Amino acid sequence: MADHTTRTYDSILELLPDADNPTPIVRLNKVTGFEHAQVYAKLEWYNPFGAVKDRVAANLVRAAEERGEELENLVEPTSGNTGIGLAMIANAKGYGFSATLSKDVPLEKRAALRIFGTDLVELDDDLCPLPGQPEGAMQRAEELAERPGWRELNQYQNPDNPDAHFRTTGPEIWRQTGGSITHFAASLGTCGTITGTGRYLKQQNPDVKVIGVHPTEGHDIPGVRSRRALGVTEFFLPDEYDAVVEVADADAYHLAKRLNQEESIIAGPSSALALAGALREIPDEPGVVAVVIFPDNVFKYTSSFQRHLPELFPADTLPEPQAVAPANPFAGHLEAAFEFAKHGPDVVDAGTAAAQFDDGAVLIDVRGPAELERARIAGAVNVPLPELSQGRTDGLPTDKDAPVLTLCAAGTRSLYALLLLKAQGYRNVKSVDGGIAAWAAAGLPTEQRSTAGVG
Ligand SMILES: Cc1ncc(COP(=O)(O)O)c(C=O)c1O
Repeated sequence: MADHTTRTYDSILELLPDADNPTPIVRLNKVTGFEHAQVYAKLEWYNPFGAVKDRVAANLVRAAEERGEELENLVEPTSGNTGIGLAMIANAKGYGFSATLSKDVPLEKRAALRIFGTDLVELDDDLCPLPGQPEGAMQRAEELAERPGWRELNQYQNPDNPDAHFRTTGPEIWRQTGGSITHFAASLGTCGTITGTGRYLKQQNPDVKVIGVHPTEGHDIPGVRSRRALGVTEFFLPDEYDAVVEVADADAYHLAKRLNQEESIIAGPSSALALAGALREIPDEPGVVAVVIFPDNVFKYTSSFQRHLPELFPADTLPEPQAVAPANPFAGHLEAAFEFAKHGPDVVDAGTAAAQFDDGAVLIDVRGPAELERARIAGAVNVPLPELSQGRTDGLPTDKDAPVLTLCAAGTRSLYALLLLKAQGYRNVKSVDGGIAAWAAAGLPTEQRSTAGVG
């Protein structure tokens, strides 16, 4: 029986937090520069497996068990922390666990998962996995979950993710601040933390301000997503937040150093990212009480710190840091072009595209070969996106006024293809909204490769 006063437990799982056993909040006294406003860090590495995502892993499993689902083996795409939480809960409960993740996830996290006995599928994927990449973590997890006895709980779509925070993080903070909280901030990954906690706090007091913080495109902060990559999670709901702030890697790592060296708080990079964004939004006024989620600690990211704060690592003390490509300073502009295109007139629904295709438009499918195996559209020309960006013209119409349609799995790569074609002078290009998934959902014909070309 859990006794939080003596901290005596019969099982490690009894350490999972709730309002009676909260993770601590600690006031920041030096780095805020504030005279009046009180800013507290909620130290999520006090969770039993070391991160905020232990709450989510526990709630995903609890809810599935309560629904009576068979949970023999679990598989999940993860940037590390959900995997670590699920691995340990699976170990405690006797379930199997497999994680699909990018090789860019810090070595410290991948090593920990191996120590915990996880079956690890390491992939050449982005640090923030996106759907529709045939060799990506999300796609692979989906495929692996199709095996009998396997189940993907899917933190990006499962409402038990934000619900974990609605049940625990929110009530803890409300009680810890005696209901005096005025501002709440969190960094954005799946957005379970901000959405679940924010909803609970606003339910208690609609005036509480909720601040989300994300990194720039091409960032190097594990666990969080750039504005574009936030599109994959169903829980990024900016209308429910009062501010969404972007912070550069350099600002986050610099503040992380200060948190460690001046506040003696062993914060990891996504903690500092959240704080850096929050400090831009929180007014320094009497009565302001802010709580910022600090998702995990510095020890999983020593290799990342080595890259971003090389001055802390004299050459003779450690091996050379792994080279990383310098961030492209113009990436944000491409990002903006993508966002304009996404909401612009050149995106057409599947029905409109099918009618234009019937009228003779060239349909360019920019997916890769493995995806074409599953479903394709008869008569479409296949030019994979990487080849298009390398300047392949084979298969494209020579007439730059010819009507062209671009298509992929879900509508992201086809938009990049549209931008590439427009940049090459094609004046009449449209991207198919929702990709082949929307095409099939609209009842339009597709075929399997095995039957393609027959008859
Ligand atoms: C280190 C770290 N920071 C921040 C986050 C973001 O939390 P959420 O997924 O609830 O948005 C995560 C999520 O995995 C994380 O691992």
